[in-house]
Amino acid sequence: MGIIDKAADVIISGGLVAFPTETVYGLGGDGLNPSASERIYAAKGRPSDNPLILHISDISQLEPLVKEIPENAVRLYEKFWPGPLTLIFKKSAVVPYETSGGLDTVAVRFPSNAVAQRLISASKTPIAAPSANTSGRPSPTRASHVAYDLDGKIDIILDGGACDFGLESTIVDVSEDIPCLLRPGAITLEMLRDVLGKVNVDKAVTDMLEGGELPKAPGMKYTHYSPNADVIIVRGERQKIVQKINELIADTDIRLKVGVIATEENKYSYKGCEVLVAGSIKEPEKIASNLFKMLRKCDHHGIDRVFAEGLPENEIGLAIMNRLKKAAGYHIIDA
Ligand code: TXA
Ligand code: MG
Repeated sequence: MGIIDKAADVIISGGLVAFPTETVYGLGGDGLNPSASERIYAAKGRPSDNPLILHISDISQLEPLVKEIPENAVRLYEKFWPGPLTLIFKKSAVVPYETSGGLDTVAVRFPSNAVAQRLISASKTPIAAPSANTSGRPSPTRASHVAYDLDGKIDIILDGGACDFGLESTIVDVSEDIPCLLRPGAITLEMLRDVLGKVNVDKAVTDMLEGGELPKAPGMKYTHYSPNADVIIVRGERQKIVQKINELIADTDIRLKVGVIATEENKYSYKGCEVLVAGSIKEPEKIASNLFKMLRKCDHHGIDRVFAEGLPENEIGLAIMNRLKKAAGYHIIDA
């Protein structure tokens, strides 16, 4: 029996399998089995009011999971599935509340990664899968990241190498008349608006929420992606960012180990710190795919405080800055 069939047997019998997708690694269980969902929450240490995404490997699996398929959903999935896009629908009775975190809606995604597709097909059920990290930690983009967080708590890890995009899927709520972006990703706001025209953006995508405000994606309310180091974003004109970060480093207590998450272009500009190069400013997709690895590296290198160069918040930059802001707890300094 091949490893995929073995992993599918684990899913069918209620166990947990970590598997690669084109975004990040997922921690999968049978999405229609309430006790599998409960095991997922327990392994991640995740609050059970934070719903899971159901992963499918054929468009025919969508209809039974949802109450209706709005026209806007069809336009999006015809263009972007399989791929890094999750859609929120009103849920059908088939989806257990344990999977949907008690909500009347359900998140569905059709990943393009071949291992993910083969696992879902062989399991013959939609696979519920959050990112395969311990709750609050950066999402895993390598099998080794999954093992570091979850070894001993799950049954199998399928190693599919590094993930292509490295940031979690774009989430769009299509259950209401005007679609709403809940989490930015590789399918950018510009791409969504090209297809749909008007798309709202949930406040939690760009801004810190005030007391009493709730994000539409429950997971966006938790502190996230955080290494042990304090993360501070420095944004502004490119040259001013470098100058400001060097000033901030000079002002930092010398007992602290300082790091900078820098662009390739600026890697020789920082003094008295460890420089982690995320990629060239000309290739922001590369920066996106390296970001979580950089945040994890901060821990492995014992960094206490890390300054991250801010990026323009358009196209993939919106998703990069969204993850960085959450890692930084919205600690942003304007240069
Ligand atoms: O790329 C991805 O989406 C990865 C891979 C494994 O597919 N999965 C992932 O899952 O990022 P997770 O659980 O880490 O993030 C899912 C997000 C959470 O913020 C959750 O609150 C939100 O989706 N979500 C899930 N169901 C929802 C719903 N019915 N309504 C609103 N938000 C929902
Ligand atoms: Mg996650």
